[in-house]
Amino acid sequence: MTFRVLISTLCIFMGATSDSYGMSATAQQPTVLVTGSNRGIGLEFVKQYAAKGWRVIATTRRPNQAKALQALARSEANVTIELLDVTNGEHLASLAEKYRDQPIDVLINNAGVSGDFQGPGQSLGTLDYTTVDTFMSVNAIGPLRVTEALYGNVKLGDQKKVIAITALLGVHSFKYGGFSGAYWYKVSKAAMNAAVYNLAQDALKDGITVTLLTPGEVAVEKVLDPGPNFISPEVSILGMIDIIDQLTPEDAGAIIRYNGKRYSF
Ligand SMILES: NC(=O)c1ccc[n+]([C@@H]2O[C@H](COP(=O)([O-])OP(=O)(O)OC[C@H]3O[C@@H](n4cnc5c(N)ncnc54)[C@H](OP(=O)(O)O)[C@@H]3O)[C@@H](O)[C@H]2O)c1
Repeated sequence: MTFRVLISTLCIFMGATSDSYGMSATAQQPTVLVTGSNRGIGLEFVKQYAAKGWRVIATTRRPNQAKALQALARSEANVTIELLDVTNGEHLASLAEKYRDQPIDVLINNAGVSGDFQGPGQSLGTLDYTTVDTFMSVNAIGPLRVTEALYGNVKLGDQKKVIAITALLGVHSFKYGGFSGAYWYKVSKAAMNAAVYNLAQDALKDGITVTLLTPGEVAVEKVLDPGPNFISPEVSILGMIDIIDQLTPEDAGAIIRYNGKRYSF
């Protein structure tokens, strides 16, 4: 008996299904898909969901360079890496085709660009209009595009939850952080909040709960000198997963921080 046949036999014996990459999912094992999962907050989501025993579809725009993800996929049988630039329609079409008819319980729209908050490109007087389209297409439109492409998969899931990782810098009631600069980041996250709020209202009819989560100030790899208010990715993601676990349709369109605090728009 070959190794592949042996695995297939075991899968059948255990009531599992096996996809073309050999990742298997039991009927009881929920599935999460995370965008921008090669580093930072996305990578920590993958680590924690994998540790919980979930089937994890970890997407990144550069699978070949995603060393930390590759190491995780080698050690955790339930992690699969997929190519996805959230602005790329072809990537989304082939991902949707590959996972056609497969449930996704939780879809996490995490991918985002932030740039240099205090740099000239995002400061009044020297705004760089050549970069604003990237901010808008990744941060504002990306979650809408990804969710639309994978909507059928979420509909098939038991949990039916869509998350978009926003930032308080895009929240009017938080005065967009109350500091100058970061124009494109703030504007694109505010637009994302509007897009996701509307998506949340439409998705309710299908029993899908769409919610905006803010992670806190998180000391991810790129933050070289985190201030005293920063928290670790472990703490932030632990808090957000706890919130995701408890979401109900009443949370559709809400903005909830990693620690459970709620914000109006
Ligand atoms: N860290 C914080 O304190 C904080 C606070 C509030 C909100 N957030 C939000 O949390 C999310 C993750 O932030 P982070 O701190 O982990 O940022 P990060 O370390 O800069 O990671 C951003 C991730 O998004 C990916 N990405 C960028 N453009 C993409 C595209 N077009 N398609 C697919 N993936 C793309 C990046 O991939 P590459 O490696 O290929 O660039 C990377 O995996 C973002 O939405 C961010 O706005 C973070």
